[in-house]
Amino acid sequence: MVDLIATAAFGLEAVVDRELERLGYADRVVEDGKVTFSAPESAIARCNLWLRSADRLLLQVGEFTAIDFGELFDRVEALPWEEWLPRDAAFPVEVRAVRSAIRSQRNGQSIVKKAIATRLGRRYGLSQLPETGSTYAVDVAIVADTVTVAIDTSGDGLHKRGYRKTAGAAPLKETLAAGLVQLSYWNRDRTFADPFCGSGTLPIEAALIARNHAPGLGRAFLAETWPHLPRTAWIEARDEARDAILRDPIAPVLGSDIDMGVIATARRNAEAAGVAKDVRFSNTAAAEFGSSEQFGCVVCNPPYGERIGEQREIERLYRSLGDVFLRLPSWSFYVLTSHQGLPDLVKRRADRRRKLYNGRIECVYYQFYGPRPPKPHASKIREHRPVDGESNRADDGAAE
Ligand SMILES: C[S@@+](CC[C@H](N)C(=O)[O-])C[C@H]1O[C@@H](n2cnc3c(N)ncnc32)[C@H](O)[C@@H]1O
Repeated sequence: MVDLIATAAFGLEAVVDRELERLGYADRVVEDGKVTFSAPESAIARCNLWLRSADRLLLQVGEFTAIDFGELFDRVEALPWEEWLPRDAAFPVEVRAVRSAIRSQRNGQSIVKKAIATRLGRRYGLSQLPETGSTYAVDVAIVADTVTVAIDTSGDGLHKRGYRKTAGAAPLKETLAAGLVQLSYWNRDRTFADPFCGSGTLPIEAALIARNHAPGLGRAFLAETWPHLPRTAWIEARDEARDAILRDPIAPVLGSDIDMGVIATARRNAEAAGVAKDVRFSNTAAAEFGSSEQFGCVVCNPPYGERIGEQREIERLYRSLGDVFLRLPSWSFYVLTSHQGLPDLVKRRADRRRKLYNGRIECVYYQFYGPRPPKPHASKIREHRPVDGESNRADDGAAE
């Protein structure tokens, strides 16, 4: 068994926790920015392939308290580094410290590096470690004097699925997009629409979820280069993920945008993600959005109007969204924006608000629930259970 940490953006911890539960990992501990759990070694491959909303997967090597550099050195040196790092391992070190006696991240980094090198040098009988082999990126987080020492298994952040070669002006991180979809009551039997789709991130992530398509199938991970981990673990995890893709029909997944150029980008991205047949893109203004489908869900990330001079235009745009709400009374609407006037402008009280960050921008995820769909719309697969199901006006066609 190994101790693993799935790191998550503020507000998405519960989503990541639910994803790990669905993958079958128990005894999870949810804290700010991370979910920690114990699992067999094979989880390193499975979680990297399957986690949709986590930032990365770390392998925890140790956790202890340290209030000075001497203590930090001794405790890091005492950890069993040779269990993971071979004699030629390259091991860059990154240290982050908050609310702790140890403050200097740069000094912390060189102390940790020296402690690991001392341990490995002694074990391998080398005065100089070559660092010419696979990379083991050491991640040290010091929070309130508790030091968590881990090795990154993902490499590139998990938002890098491999399908988005180009994007529009303000693309959503794929991990946040998957989080927004999973925080909604949408399921694969309900129409999904994003009328501000830009490079297509939200509809593409929705289609991947609808198809039960593992988001990491199209990319490689750092831990794949580690000689300690059997290659078979990666091969089996990829086979499992390919077999899990659902082939039966799904409800329409729609993406539209006023910018014709960005729609071409979205189409290319959907193609690269393997969901080109599932997502229909069109070049339409959001105010024109309509549908004859019942009980659909709009999940979107409209422009926020952050720049001076854009306010009036944004307010006009948000007012026109209110008209879309009225035209589709059986639909639910989920809108991520930093603009606090949204409920007033659409003339509707949000059923739920959730604070989230889009990069550094503090946003609110406003949720406006339509009526509960009749039973046939309830999804049969667990993938689409909403994360926070304790709403008062449950639009819960997605619940089991
Ligand atoms: C914040 S970006 C969305 C980014 C998208 N989620 C992604 O990941 O690429 C907002 C998008 O709204 C589009 N937009 C602006 N005004 C619009 C309008 N009136 N109707 C439809 N789309 C509009 C912009 O072209 C832009 O692509």
